[in-house]
Amino acid sequence: MALLEIRDLVVRYGEIEALRGISLQVEQGKVVTLLGANGAGKSTTLRAISGLEKPASGDILFDGKSIAGQGPEAIVRLGIAHVPEGRRVFPGLTVKENIMLGASNRRVSSREISREADAMFDLFPDIRTFANTLGWTLSGGQLQMVAVARGLMAKPRLLLLDEPSLGLAPVIVQAVFRIISQIRQTTTVLLVEQNARMGLSVADFGYVLETGRIVLGGKPDELWGNEAIRAAYLGGHAKATA
Ligand SMILES: Nc1ncnc2c1ncn2[C@@H]1O[C@H](COP(=O)(O)OP(=O)(O)OP(=O)(O)O)[C@@H](O)[C@H]1O
Ligand SMILES: [Mg+2]
Repeated sequence: MALLEIRDLVVRYGEIEALRGISLQVEQGKVVTLLGANGAGKSTTLRAISGLEKPASGDILFDGKSIAGQGPEAIVRLGIAHVPEGRRVFPGLTVKENIMLGASNRRVSSREISREADAMFDLFPDIRTFANTLGWTLSGGQLQMVAVARGLMAKPRLLLLDEPSLGLAPVIVQAVFRIISQIRQTTTVLLVEQNARMGLSVADFGYVLETGRIVLGGKPDELWGNEAIRAAYLGGHAKATA
């Protein structure tokens, strides 16, 4: 049984049908990447899983049980953490306090949360300098690291990551993806990416979403192996960079 299964999911924003009946599975312990162009419905898929959008029809099963229609707090408590698009980091808090916020779903002492937040800086050494300072100025990549660290503090069984590479320099993107390949040992990940090469480089399985429909699913090498699909959905720069 898959950890996450989406069946015929339809999500609408008023008249707009953002998801037109998508089905996908995420197996325990895997990294699954959802690729697609702007407006394809990638973020909507993650928002529906984490309870931020209500499905019009279809179902979302976590551990075999339907979670469709439940609110975001209930879904976080089940062990699903969502690192949304954009990097929401609170400027009035230190970096460590920002990271500790991620654990608000857990019943553990603040001392333990503080200890775990300190340990996050081993995973993200680039942001350690800013741990306890107020008035920090972080780069886009560093903000992204804070957001991912905060997601990990929830100790999620399933981590939803929305475009962690967006707007980042290639060297930072590589650092973020290195971290994704490290956390995959303990956490199942559903990753949304427009950067197909990066997204597939850490994936066990990939899906391609096009205007609210899954048009393709396969192992990364199967997706790369198909010339027409590569040109149409995965960007034309495969040869230069693969
Ligand atoms: N709050 C909203 N109200 C109305 N329409 C929306 C809303 N959010 C998204 N949409 C529409 O739903 C569709 C899917 O949007 P979504 O944000 O899921 O796409 P995406 O694949 O994440 O795109 P991007 O790569 O640009 O982030 C788009 O047509 C978008 O305009
Ligand atoms: Mg999006």
